[in-house]
Amino acid sequence: TIDVNSKLVLPGLIDAHVHFRDPGLTKKEDFFSGSAAAAAGGFTTVIDMPNTIPPTNTTQALKEKMRIAREKSLVDFGLHVGVADLASIKELTEYKPASFKIFMDLVDCDFLIEAFCKINEVRDNLLNGVPSHPLISLHAEDPDVVKQCTNKMKKEGSDPELYSQARPPQAEIEAIQKAILLSKKFNQKIHFCHVSTPKSQKIINQAKNDGLNVTSEITPHHLFLNSSYLRKYGNLAKTNPPLRDEKNRLTVDNLSQIDIVGTDHAPHTLEEKNKDVWNAPPGIPGLETALPLLLTQLNQGKIIVGDIKRLLCENPAKIFNIPNKGFIRKGMDADLVVIDLKKSYVIDPANFQSKAKYSPFEGFHVQGVPVMTLVRGQKVMEKGHILKNQGKFIYS
Ligand code: DOR
Ligand code: ZN
Ligand code: ZN
Ligand code: ZN
Repeated sequence: TIDVNSKLVLPGLIDAHVHFRDPGLTKKEDFFSGSAAAAAGGFTTVIDMPNTIPPTNTTQALKEKMRIAREKSLVDFGLHVGVADLASIKELTEYKPASFKIFMDLVDCDFLIEAFCKINEVRDNLLNGVPSHPLISLHAEDPDVVKQCTNKMKKEGSDPELYSQARPPQAEIEAIQKAILLSKKFNQKIHFCHVSTPKSQKIINQAKNDGLNVTSEITPHHLFLNSSYLRKYGNLAKTNPPLRDEKNRLTVDNLSQIDIVGTDHAPHTLEEKNKDVWNAPPGIPGLETALPLLLTQLNQGKIIVGDIKRLLCENPAKIFNIPNKGFIRKGMDADLVVIDLKKSYVIDPANFQSKAKYSPFEGFHVQGVPVMTLVRGQKVMEKGHILKNQGKFIYS
């Protein structure tokens, strides 16, 4: 029996945006350590991003990642696929990717249009007798604005705070505008990863009002940190898109407009993070801090339990079409997280299950901690200890 006395029980959290680095970059993380971080953080489902080595943009790479995840993952998983060879899109669809992920900062406009066009051509493929409408998820930053502003800021020196202006809000805004035009042209569902600035969200809201099928994600770091943390924490706070200054930032007051919280769990080695700002890789490990940070907001009366359920359980399940997850009700998987809402403590990355034992949230005083995580009824975390489990592909 499980003692859930005086505890809060929520559906297992779903993180639709993690980078587990497996295969090819397993010094940073692998599917075992990443999924252990998920379980420790109260997450029972993760969807992994395709920028591994090799990138998950061929059926061969996808099958290999699937094999790795089946072998190593402690929590249930889905996989986003990348878009490189447009000819392989049709075949990739047959392996049920959670979405086609496009890093707009890395592709030119012609490629983007072709990708939308090709993905649109496979939308009537039947998957298990159900017509599919593949989702495109986007890292929205305009490559030209990024290039131009990065070159300009590099001349100013190597103060980490410069990074904020190397990829300014305008880079994101322009990319989002472009993607929404394409969504309209192709009647294509799109999902914006890590929206970071109010103007972007306003454009997305407008598109929704116009009837387009557009959704958006915010990360805990964009929600709780501003660009001054680049001064404080250096490259540990370096991420793409960068942290914004106070007046260009989304906060908990904007949460009602946002569809999901995704962590963009993006671990790197400390050695890499110790390079100068222009050479250190961007990314923040987020799986083990997301829920404590949100529970703290809950304890402070700034958000309600329904916000956490909507943003981290229900909406991710709906947007990514994940069967039997996101809700506690009859017929659903028994994916649960048990939370001690009273416990106060200080975030210490030394305790992370992730291989990335650093965080710009180090030293934050939080209240509320996941004390047990269950995946399909199986305990995978109890009081911070990780237990063996075999994660399952969410679309199988
Ligand atoms: O900060 C980021 N890190 N943004 C990205 O788009 C990629 C990610 C990573 O893979 O490290
Ligand atoms: Zn075409
Ligand atoms: Zn991204
Ligand atoms: Zn990411």
